[in-house]
Amino acid sequence: MCSIPFSQGHDGSIIAPFKIGFCTCRKAAPPLGAPADPAGAPWACPGAEPRRAQGPLRFPPMAWITKPSATMKIERRDEPYLTAAMKDELTRTVLPRYEVKHGALLPALHMIQHEYGWVPHQAMMEIAVFLGLKPADVIDTASFYEEYWLRPKGKHLISICRSIACEFCGHEAITQAVKDELGIDVGETTDDGLFTLIELECLGSCGTAPVALVDETLCENLTPEQILQRIRDVRAGKAGGHH
Ligand code: FES
Repeated sequence: MCSIPFSQGHDGSIIAPFKIGFCTCRKAAPPLGAPADPAGAPWACPGAEPRRAQGPLRFPPMAWITKPSATMKIERRDEPYLTAAMKDELTRTVLPRYEVKHGALLPALHMIQHEYGWVPHQAMMEIAVFLGLKPADVIDTASFYEEYWLRPKGKHLISICRSIACEFCGHEAITQAVKDELGIDVGETTDDGLFTLIELECLGSCGTAPVALVDETLCENLTPEQILQRIRDVRAGKAGGHH
């Protein structure tokens, strides 16, 4: 097996960013430190052409998300996200529960998300200052948990379970009905900013599959008609709220 680690295979295969693999061509790689090609051409694995002739390798879609961190624009506003009232509440009711301030990190992130619907970058910086943490620690924590939204989402969140019990019981028809009704795909938000649709893993209610969360309400034994009715209720202000 070729000994050159790669992120984009010599053989034409695409490997997920950051994942290190080895070319499957089984041809020898140039020795380490070998002089560059005098014409400046990058070294190409001799197995590349035969591999390409077989057509591209198929890999399942990867969930990796890459961000252009060098050029990323961070939105800031003058008014702080972590308000004086929030700091006061954290100081009085949350901090005393923990030996170190770090313990209040998750509740602080929750507080921001409940107030604004997501956790802006500026809010993470403010939390870092308030708790005496490194901004990187706050960002690491917030980005570790899928439940924290690091980009704006719709006012109402529809989360459909796609794990095995719900899959067997017809989650796909539920998702499709919502997609058709709202005109969006999974992971998207309606143009009016009212609804975001996502799919989640098991919600722990397999006995009443298929299930979905509409904001914080668990909807069980769902049919497509019921989820559409729930959406109409949310629009009419009769259901949903607070996520
Ligand atoms: S698989 Fe859907 S709730 Fe468990």
